[in-house]
Amino acid sequence: MNDAFVNNPGYGYALLGLTAIVAVLVGVLTFAVLRIAAAARTARRSLGDGGSEAMLLSAALQEAVTRLRTEERAMSARAAASEQLSAQIVESLTAGLLVVDGAGRVTMLNPAGRRLLDLTGEPVGVDYGELLDGVPPLRDAVAECLATRRPILRRSLQAPRSGRPAHLGVTVSPLGASGDGGAICLFSDLTTVVELEEQLRLKEALARLGELTAGLAHEFRNGLATIHGYSRLLAPDALPPAYRPYVEGIRQETDTLGRVVTTFLDFARPEKPSLAPVALGALARRASHELRHELPAGTDVAVRGEFADVQGDEVLLRQMFGNLLRNAAEACQAAGVTPAIVIDGRVDRARGACSVTVSDNGPGIPAADRERVFQPFFTTRTRGTGLGLAVVQKIAVTHNGRATAGASAAGGAAIEITFPLP
Ligand SMILES: Nc1ncnc2c1ncn2[C@@H]1O[C@H](COP(=O)(O)OP(=O)(O)O)[C@@H](O)[C@H]1O
Ligand SMILES: [Mg+2]
Repeated sequence: MNDAFVNNPGYGYALLGLTAIVAVLVGVLTFAVLRIAAAARTARRSLGDGGSEAMLLSAALQEAVTRLRTEERAMSARAAASEQLSAQIVESLTAGLLVVDGAGRVTMLNPAGRRLLDLTGEPVGVDYGELLDGVPPLRDAVAECLATRRPILRRSLQAPRSGRPAHLGVTVSPLGASGDGGAICLFSDLTTVVELEEQLRLKEALARLGELTAGLAHEFRNGLATIHGYSRLLAPDALPPAYRPYVEGIRQETDTLGRVVTTFLDFARPEKPSLAPVALGALARRASHELRHELPAGTDVAVRGEFADVQGDEVLLRQMFGNLLRNAAEACQAAGVTPAIVIDGRVDRARGACSVTVSDNGPGIPAADRERVFQPFFTTRTRGTGLGLAVVQKIAVTHNGRATAGASAAGGAAIEITFPLP
């Protein structure tokens, strides 16, 4: 596809070149015929009928000129058709196509390229570095090809997000054999592919983790239950007073550990969601209403924005909101502020996705921890299990979505869950 594409403009140019040569030939021949005809006329005048040889020559030449003229017209028509075909291919490509000349000026950017780069102005004649200022990795790839004159094949680039695709697949080839021929760059949006790959990786990682640890956790829970059972058989009243707190301690710890293991087993169990249309906005409102007694006094939960219906498991999605609201409230409380939580809905029909962001006014999550908070057992709280966000991620992935952590406008945490639209 790339080769055919790269070759097409070259073919057009070659045809144009041929046409030019034929036109020059025709000109030269016409001139020669006129000269010969004039000479023949002069000869006829001086020789009477003796000029018949020159006449024959002139007629033959005239015929040759006519044939060349016909061929020239056919060539022009073929060149025009080829040019039109090239233009149609360039226009209808779903990938972006950028052509840069030897001086680094843009000579062509197709409509898909303008769309992918989110450009509105006229790019032709502009310096490519200026044009690609907002997408440094793409600019660097073109610069590299221009400098090395070596092709870059199917390189995957990460572009800064601002309405543009986050991942680009790029191929850049030097134009022409000479050293100053510019470059031709083909780029396409790989964001959906990369996101799907990431989701698949996450799903596999979760499944493997479940398989590896579920058996162990089961054994662990059985052992804990036995210890807990023996501690229950120890009647504290029958023990010397100094030992009584130890028994109490054993009971409490086994209780807590038992809960952790049960939560983990819940987390590790392969999820079989029962999917049905769920209105995310209504569910967010219901979840915050149900949780209001659990959250610290004065907690404000606002639900706003646009919400879509998704194919989802209502029980799991409610658990997701519960974990996020609890985390937000706990973080605010630990920082000594009254929680002001916002559940914000967004629908992006162009990308076929909708998202829900739960933000708070707490201390936020440090940038270095924003990936790790979704790992099982990552916790910064003394009595945390580190499973709340791992469960949220698992629920998101079960719905073919994704959970990411960022910062809220109030300086707190913002956890965004993205779902595909049905
Ligand atoms: N809203 C939030 N604000 C600040 N930090 C948060 C928030 N939510 C989660 N975290 C961080 O992520 C960690 C993991 O959260 P989670 O998986 O729910 O486990 P746990 O709540 O048991 O610690 C927390 O310990 C905390 O450091
Ligand atoms: Mg939690």
